[in-house]
Amino acid sequence: MRSLIDILELSTAELDKLIATADDIIANPEKYAHKCAGKKLATLFFEPSTRTRLSFEAAMYELGGNVLGFSEAQSSSAAKGESVADTAKTVSCYADIIAMRHPKEGAPLVASMNASIPVINAGDGGHNHPTQTLADLLTIHREKGHFDNLTVGLCGDLKFGRTVHSLIAALRRYNNVKFVFISPNELKIPDYVKDSLKKEGIEYSETTDLEAAMPCLDILYMTRVQRERFFNEEEYLRLKDSYILTPEKLLGAKADMKILHPLPRVNEISVAIDNDPRACYFKQVLYGKYMRMALILMLLEVE
Ligand code: CP
Repeated sequence: MRSLIDILELSTAELDKLIATADDIIANPEKYAHKCAGKKLATLFFEPSTRTRLSFEAAMYELGGNVLGFSEAQSSSAAKGESVADTAKTVSCYADIIAMRHPKEGAPLVASMNASIPVINAGDGGHNHPTQTLADLLTIHREKGHFDNLTVGLCGDLKFGRTVHSLIAALRRYNNVKFVFISPNELKIPDYVKDSLKKEGIEYSETTDLEAAMPCLDILYMTRVQRERFFNEEEYLRLKDSYILTPEKLLGAKADMKILHPLPRVNEISVAIDNDPRACYFKQVLYGKYMRMALILMLLEVE
C-alpha cells in the first residue's frame, strides 16, 4: 500500500506514467467511467478549499466511485480534540483512500502512518501540495510538450507558498531547467531551497522586478500572498499587492510564454488577462482533476 505525501515520492518515470494516463483519460473518458466502482474516497479537509476538494470528488465520481468526508475541522471530531492519527484509523474503516488537507505541516504524513489505506496529501500548511504539482506538470506538458530547457519564473509568496516548493522539487529533476524567483524581500524563497539548487548546480536568480524578469520566461507561475500564513495583519496588507499582472506588464513577455497560477487568485492577475492565449490557469484547474484521477488509479492499483 502506498500513499503520496511529497511529490518526490514519485519518480520521473512514474510522473510520465501519470501524465500518459491523464492524457488517455482526456481522450477516452468512457474507458475509465467504472474503474473505481465500489470504491470510496474520503476527503478530510481541515482547511478551506474549492479546487482540490471538489476536483478529488469529481475525479472519484468520474471513475465510478463514491465520496464521503468533511470540508472543515469544526464539523469533525477534531473539534472535540481527536488526533489526526485516530481520525486516520477511524476513516480507514469506512473508505478505500483518503485525501487530506491540514494547516499543520506533517499532518497527512502522520495520517499515512496510522491509516490502513492510502493517504494523499492535499496540502499541509506551507509545506507541500503534491497534487497541485501534478496539475501544474500536466499543464506544462500539454502546453509546452516537455519539461527540459524551460526557464520558469515563480512570482509572489515564495516563502510560504507550498505549491511553489512542490513545483520546484518536481521540475529540478529535468534537464537544464532554470528558475527565476520573483518576490518581495520579505517573501523570498527559503535558503534551504536555494542551497540545494546550488549544490546540484541548478541555475537560478532572484529579483524583486517582475517586468525585468519577464522577457526570458517560458513559464510564469503567479501565486497569491496568503493572508492565512501571516501572523501580522499589517505585514500582510503591506505585501498583498506586491505583484499585479496586467496586460501592460506582459508587453515584454514571449508570445508563447504560459501563465500558470494554482488559484485562488485575489487580485494578482488582472481579469483582463483571462482571455490572453497565454493564460492557462483555468485549464490547470481542469487538468488537476485528470491527474487526480490518474493518481487514484495508481494508488488503488486499478489496472
Ligand atoms: N490550488 C488550490 O489548492 O486551491 P484550493 O485551495 O481551492 O483547493
